[in-house]
Amino acid sequence: MKVLVVGGGGREHALAWKLLQDDPRLELVAAPGNPGMATLGRCEPVSVTDIDGLCALAQRERADLVVVGPEAPLELGLVDRLRALGIAAFGPTAAAAEIETSKRFAKELMLAAGVPTAMARTFTDATAAKAEVRRLGAPVVVKASGIAAGKGVIVAATINEAEAAVDAMLVDNAFGAAGAEVLVEEFMTGEELSVFALTDGTHVLPMIAAQDHKRIGEGDTGPNTGGMGAYAPVSIAPPALIAEFVATVFEPTLRAMREAGRPFTGLLYAGLMLTPHGPRVVEFNCRFGDPETEAILPLLHSSLLEPMLAIARGDSLAGAAPLRWKPLAAVTTVVAAAGYPGTVTNGDAITLPGEQLNVTVFHAGTRCDADRTLRTAGGRVLAITALAPTLAQAQKDSARAAAKVQFAGRQFRRDIGWRELARGAGTS
Ligand code: AMP
Ligand code: GLY
Repeated sequence: MKVLVVGGGGREHALAWKLLQDDPRLELVAAPGNPGMATLGRCEPVSVTDIDGLCALAQRERADLVVVGPEAPLELGLVDRLRALGIAAFGPTAAAAEIETSKRFAKELMLAAGVPTAMARTFTDATAAKAEVRRLGAPVVVKASGIAAGKGVIVAATINEAEAAVDAMLVDNAFGAAGAEVLVEEFMTGEELSVFALTDGTHVLPMIAAQDHKRIGEGDTGPNTGGMGAYAPVSIAPPALIAEFVATVFEPTLRAMREAGRPFTGLLYAGLMLTPHGPRVVEFNCRFGDPETEAILPLLHSSLLEPMLAIARGDSLAGAAPLRWKPLAAVTTVVAAAGYPGTVTNGDAITLPGEQLNVTVFHAGTRCDADRTLRTAGGRVLAITALAPTLAQAQKDSARAAAKVQFAGRQFRRDIGWRELARGAGTS
C-alpha cells in the first residue's frame, strides 16, 4: 500500500506517523514533506498549491491513497482532480471545502440547518456593515469571509475597533478577495473546543475533543499565533457531550451539505464554544487542525488508515466500529522560532531532545542541509507530544522535552493544558 501525504507541517508529520503505526509496511511519499517525514518515507519537492504537480506525482507513484493535510489544495480542487483520475483521495471537494473557505457559506448553511451558532449578517458595503456594528454594539466580531491567513477575525472590544476592521477589509482591501465580503457577528463567551469527525458524508466517527492554545504567552496572553500547543482529552467534553455534538452539529451540517449538492467527505473540524446558552459553532474547518492533530492522533488506539481508506474510496462508514482511545492524556508543546508570530529568523541550527519513550517530536518548520544539519524553516518549528497517565505528567514531560530543544531564541509555553489543571482535572 502506497500513501501520498500532501503537506509538510506538524499535522502532516503526525498523520504520516499514525498511518505507519497502523500499517508498518505502508510506503509513504510526502509532498513536500519535512525532515521528520523523511525519516518515515520519501519526500518529493512539490508544493501544496501545485495541483498539476501533485496529480502527476500521485499518478507516477500509483498512490493507493492520497491524504490532503492543508486547506489550500482542497480549496484549489485537488480532491476533485484526483477523483477524476480515479485516485482515492481523502478530503472534501472544493465545493464542500467552502464550509471553511467561505464563512458566509458556512454561516448561511448553519442558520438554515438550525445548527447552533452566533447570529451574523454578511456585507459588501462598508456603510451598511458599520450600521450593523452600531446596532449590535461592542464587543462585536468582524470576519473576512475568505481565508485570510488566520488574521481575518477581529474580536472588537469597541465600536471604533470594529469600524476600523470593516474599513480595512471593505475599503482598504487589507485581505484582498478574502475580505471583499465581511460578516458582522454577535460576540460569544465561553471555553473553546476543537472536535474532529471522520465522515463519509453521512455517517460520522467522532474523535475526542482537544483544546488549542492560540496566544503566544503563558496564561493565554499576548498576540495570536497558529497555535502554541494542544491537549486531549478535555474533561468538559465527555463522550455524552461528543454524542450531543454529533446529533446537533455534525449530522445536521452533513445533511445540509448533501442537500446543497456538496456532500462533505473527509475530516470535518468543528470549532465550538461552550457558551452560557449552550454549545455554539464558531467555525468549521475542512481538514485536521494543527496542533490538535499532534495531540489527538498519538492517543488513537484503533486504526486511522482503515476509515480513511474507506472514505477515500467512497465506501460507507455505516456499521463502522467507533474509534478507540488509549486511556492516557496527551500534551503537545509547540516550539516556535524567535520573533514568532511576527517576522521570524530562519536557518538556525536545531538540537533535538534525546529519545524518550512517551515523547514524540513532530517537525513543523524545519529543513535539512546537505551536510544533514537540521535548521529552523518557519514560525512553528516543532510540535512535541508527551503521553502520560495524567495531564499534569504529560504537561511536565512535554515541556521538559521542549526545554531540551536548542536553537537561537526558541519560544514555547510550559502551561499547555492549564485550563484543565485549573479545573482540578488531569492530576489523577
Ligand atoms: P475563527 O477563525 O473563526 O476560528 O475565529 C478565531 C477566533 O476568534 C476563535 O477561535 C474565537 O476565539 C474568536 N471568535 C470567533 N468568533 C467569535 C464570536 N462570535 N465571539 C467571540 N469570539 C469569537
Ligand atoms: N488549530 C486551529 C486550526 O487548525 O485551524
